[in-house]
Amino acid sequence: MTTAQKELIKATVPILREHGVALTTHFYSRMFKHNPELKNVFNMGNQGNGKQQLSLALAVLAYAEHIEDPSVLVSAVTKIGHKHVSLDIRPEHYAIVGQHLLASIKEVLGEGATDELIAAWAAAYQQLADLMTGLEKSLYSEAATKEGGWTGWRPFIVKQKVKESEEITSFYLYPSDGGKVADFLPGQYISVRLFLPELNLIQPRQYSLSSAPNGSYYRISVKRESGAGDEPDGMISNRLHDAVQEGDVLEVAPPAGDFTLDTAKQTPVVFISGGVGQTPLLSMLEYLASTESNREIVWVHGCRNRRVHAFNEPITTLEARHGRLQKHIFYDSLDEDMAVEGYYEGVVELDRLKEQALLQDADYYVCGPAPFIRKQFEDLAAMGVSREAIHYEEFGPANLVLS
Ligand SMILES: Cc1cc2nc3c(=O)[nH]c(=O)nc-3n(C[C@H](O)[C@H](O)[C@H](O)COP(=O)(O)OP(=O)(O)OC[C@H]3O[C@@H](n4cnc5c(N)ncnc54)[C@H](O)[C@@H]3O)c2cc1C
Ligand code: HEM
Repeated sequence: MTTAQKELIKATVPILREHGVALTTHFYSRMFKHNPELKNVFNMGNQGNGKQQLSLALAVLAYAEHIEDPSVLVSAVTKIGHKHVSLDIRPEHYAIVGQHLLASIKEVLGEGATDELIAAWAAAYQQLADLMTGLEKSLYSEAATKEGGWTGWRPFIVKQKVKESEEITSFYLYPSDGGKVADFLPGQYISVRLFLPELNLIQPRQYSLSSAPNGSYYRISVKRESGAGDEPDGMISNRLHDAVQEGDVLEVAPPAGDFTLDTAKQTPVVFISGGVGQTPLLSMLEYLASTESNREIVWVHGCRNRRVHAFNEPITTLEARHGRLQKHIFYDSLDEDMAVEGYYEGVVELDRLKEQALLQDADYYVCGPAPFIRKQFEDLAAMGVSREAIHYEEFGPANLVLS
């Protein structure tokens, strides 16, 4: 890109800050009109609730702001790359997205979209597309060459469905071809896709692997998503709970994701989860237990009540066995017989645990609804924990900007 082109991109930052979501909303509606087949590739729930439009707007804004040195965006780009690979996005798709993005900039800016500005955005897009396809190529290659690995979609049989709480059910997925499954890093997710008759579309969703790697199956644990107020119930989670039965086949993409336990470390780990956000942390915990790790572990979990509380039993058993694991459970409301040590009433307040949750040199892994992550992040930062020691994952397109 030329210096003049970079200046033109920087000049669009205030517009992107104010109208970024309008631009990406226009972009998606344009792309789905001209390329309706891509509705099978995108999560139409995230289109309905606006999370993907916001996520793309934030990414385009960050790129424009850092056009002089995009290398500072490497961790954000890596996160997107993992998501793309888990959805089988290939280099040829980039031309379609580029075409609709540039046309959308023209259509939304109107007279402000000079030929020079469009040429600058075309160059900027190509530079980013090259960076992303390069990264994705290496992720595909890694996924394909692992033992039990593959790329794209592979059929898996649901061998077992296990109810873990009133609203969370686990699915044990085995490859229909009888082969092995690739190992994964504790904390990673898979994409699962199935046909949704009400939309007449195939729809993918991500689910964190909720057990330690074992070579033969993947376990996911899915919360039945109920729409609040006027919002619709979740399409795929309800279908998985109600329609998908043991023996049915789902298509699965290989494990991906960069929210992973650093297994080389020996320092303490603190797992902080809200609701079904415990799944990737459970995989990390099971991994540490299965490798007989000596690391000190704190498990902090919050949910509405014991009826929706999944996995309490196995973690309690582990706590009794492990010796270096301590758990703290927060319920919105505590039944009288639960007023025992380790159970607290209210939302997760790390302040109430103080030094029990703040350990020397610890890493903090946080997962749950976006407001939960924000609160825990801010509370940890206020207690003096460094930004680098806090790791978090949103169960949807990245919408949080935390620093
Ligand atoms: C990395 C990652 C890991 C994940 N791990 C897990 C996991 O381990 N377990 C788990 O249960 N989930 C997990 N998820 C979430 C999961 O992928 C799905 O998002 C979740 O199951 C809901 O999907 P759904 O199809 O049921 O809901 P959708 O139909 O996609 O709806 C999602 C939400 O959007 C709202 N919505 C939809 N359309 C509209 C509209 N038009 N207007 C307003 N609101 C609307 C719905 O009310 C609902 O609240 C993970 C997500 C990611 C990204
Ligand atoms: C330079 C180009 C691109 C950029 C900047 C970009 C950016 C993003 C971002 C920010 C996300 C959200 C990631 C997350 O936090 O989970 C995302 C997800 C996604 N992207 Fe891209 N992307 C690009 C190209 C493409 C292409 C070419 C395709 C293929 C058609 C594609 C398909 C998807 C899909 C399907 C998702 C998941 C959407 C969802 O879960 O709702 N992207 N992308």
